[in-house]
Amino acid sequence: MSSENKGTEGLRQLEYIKKLKNIVNEKKKELSRDLKYMVTTFGCQMNERDSEKLSGILRDAGFIRSESEEDADIIVYNTCTVRDNADQRVFGRLGVLKRLKDKNPSLLICLCGCMMQEDLIVEKVRKSYPHVDLIFGTHNNFKFAELLVNVYESGDKIIDIWKETDEIVEDLPSERKFKFKSGINIMFGCNNFCSYCIVPYVRGRERSRKSEDILSEIERLTYDGVKEVMLLGQNVNSYGRGLEEDITFSELLRRVCRIDGLERVRFMTSHPKDLSDELIEVMKNEEKICKHIHLPLQSGSDKVLSDMNRHYSKEKYLGIVKKLREAMPDIAITTDIIVGYPGETHEDVNETLDVIEVAQYEGAFTFEYSKRTGTPAASREDQVPEDVVKTEFDRVLKAVQNMAAKKAGRFTGRTLKVLVEGVNDRDPSMVTGRTEQNYVVHFKGDRSLVGSITEVELTECMGFYFLGRQIG
Ligand code: 5AD
Ligand code: SF4
Repeated sequence: MSSENKGTEGLRQLEYIKKLKNIVNEKKKELSRDLKYMVTTFGCQMNERDSEKLSGILRDAGFIRSESEEDADIIVYNTCTVRDNADQRVFGRLGVLKRLKDKNPSLLICLCGCMMQEDLIVEKVRKSYPHVDLIFGTHNNFKFAELLVNVYESGDKIIDIWKETDEIVEDLPSERKFKFKSGINIMFGCNNFCSYCIVPYVRGRERSRKSEDILSEIERLTYDGVKEVMLLGQNVNSYGRGLEEDITFSELLRRVCRIDGLERVRFMTSHPKDLSDELIEVMKNEEKICKHIHLPLQSGSDKVLSDMNRHYSKEKYLGIVKKLREAMPDIAITTDIIVGYPGETHEDVNETLDVIEVAQYEGAFTFEYSKRTGTPAASREDQVPEDVVKTEFDRVLKAVQNMAAKKAGRFTGRTLKVLVEGVNDRDPSMVTGRTEQNYVVHFKGDRSLVGSITEVELTECMGFYFLGRQIG
């Protein structure tokens, strides 16, 4: 059971933000300058959202955002541990921070996020990176202000990691990266225990937020100018399980779409095992829902899928894709694929290539299998040798790239709605936005268009993005 905790813990934390603000004010006087922060996010959209919350706390406490680590007074790394290279990037950067801390001893270095939920990692940071001041985890990040107050007041290093929680603390500040679009957590954690994946161990059990809390958060955002929301969860299709109210993800989507002023709804991630016909119906009928679905395949081989504990077959997966495409011909389907799962053979990879061909993905993220200590797959004897993984990975990568390029072409000449996200980085006479399918489009336009949805003819396909012309 999840318990929302506005009344007590949320208010307590708001008090700590005030305390932190007093400390920041004192320091500002001492130094005769502002205090600056930098929050760096590794990993997925859930982490991006968590970082917005951490930044919101810092902003409300009086810190100003810094563009570089060199002049920051507090640096936060919100870490990811889904694959080993994410861990390595954090360790690499921590080494560099040592020099910054030598130059500016009052710099606070904070680590949080998924990596910190692993005992071995925390032990390594404690031993080898003593310049880190504060470590907290995924379950208690709402306590950030309280932890910082404790660090400032005690002058000690603090490590505070919770193993689990059933708490959902609402209504703390958040600093959104974009004014016109926002991620919204609809659930936390994961119960699926795919055999390669560390997420259920570091994010804990699945907990859905109450629909009324989600809806009121989106209403507030819409009032604040947000046009597009992305509903976030590790497996949104199982939304509602364990809640007192009787509600499915499809029903939640219907209710979200009724919110006036909201123009676009996205969601991520869908686990194929729980994708219902009802969801396909809702996606088809609700105009506000973007015609894009991210549907991780992981592997096309039934043997590997069963070993991975994914609970669907190649046939069932392709059946869902067929239904989605029949219901919504313009839909973009994207996926995640892992290459090199223990025991995977050349023939298994051929099955994956076959799914790519039949599913006709608009895009795919391809990952080399990464051994995560503590997961069932890590202890298997039949790990695939690195050179074999590399060769097989290249086959899959080529296939998805070719497919994505081929699929993008079908939209050339079409006029689609584009949410303008910003002025083009390279050419200030152009703006950049996204179609419902999540294709990037660049076209002539100025800053006044940012945050609006406009019709754009996609005149030229540049492989993975488009050049376009505003219509009307
Ligand atoms: N190795 C490689 N890729 C992984 N993913 C999750 N765990 C691993 C792992 N151990 C990928 C999956 C998932 C995406 C977010 O990360 O494809 O869908
Ligand atoms: Fe990991 Fe599977 Fe949960 Fe996704 S559904 S977070 S891959 S365990």
